[in-house]
Amino acid sequence: MSELPPPVQIDDGIPAITEAERVVADLLPIEASERAAGDVLERVPLWFHTFALGDGTYTPGVARDHRYRLPFLPDDLTGRSVLDVGTFDGFYAFLAEARGASRVVAVDNEQYRDWVRARWGVELEGGQGFAAIAELLGSEVEYARLDAFDLAQLEEEFDLVLCFGILHRVENPLGLLRVLRDCVAPTGELLVETYGVTDPSQEMEVRAPGDVYSGDDFVYWGFGAEALSRLARHAGFDGAELLTTPIVDGHPRIAARLTTSD
Ligand SMILES: C[S@@+](CC[C@H](N)C(=O)[O-])C[C@H]1O[C@@H](n2cnc3c(N)ncnc32)[C@H](O)[C@@H]1O
Repeated sequence: MSELPPPVQIDDGIPAITEAERVVADLLPIEASERAAGDVLERVPLWFHTFALGDGTYTPGVARDHRYRLPFLPDDLTGRSVLDVGTFDGFYAFLAEARGASRVVAVDNEQYRDWVRARWGVELEGGQGFAAIAELLGSEVEYARLDAFDLAQLEEEFDLVLCFGILHRVENPLGLLRVLRDCVAPTGELLVETYGVTDPSQEMEVRAPGDVYSGDDFVYWGFGAEALSRLARHAGFDGAELLTTPIVDGHPRIAARLTTSD
């Protein structure tokens, strides 16, 4: 991965957009008019994802560098159904739609409102960024304010389930994997991305409140590859194929593909 300049902190503590996130955002060019882009930027007080609105205008996403995810995102989702769990502003759901998915459902319990308030003092209504981008794209992605543990309410199985940035944020990660297992169609797959371990000799870590991100008390766990694989098998998957373990902005991350044989 190429070296990039560190992000610049601005006065309110919200980091400026990184060049790395522009690279990711450019995968989904939105091409909004200058007026529509300006309106969206004015309406939404904080963004998690960086979106390329057009003419060099980007939403100022606080996510630092998702380039490590690009190699394991399917290029072609033609005809496949996709569930994006914990979608926040929905970048990955909209990207799935742009890559041909026939149906995309995006859910979030909007827990982020609590940590966005705690970390940056910004009040979000919930779903604002998602709705704004959906409108610009004329998207048909279906959004539900729903807790991942209530996914059975959808009564649906998906060819591809994305669970990025959540497993370390739930009190019962094995329970979440079991719920996700029930959402994966027989020939489908689950892509999991979550917080990794800081000490590679540890299979799993229990984090102290606020020690990963100051003011954010919702990060509980760090996972090593073997821990993820064992949890996956407990949850009814065949195992976990390790995809990557990068350090991003000083934070260990891990991603794996979970499949089933039935
Ligand atoms: C760090 S953000 C990641 C956003 C996006 N998935 C990504 O990785 O780019 C985690 C998201 O998961 C959501 N979330 C956390 N726990 C959840 C749960 N139990 N059910 C649904 N969403 C949840 C949060 O509200 C937040 O939007």
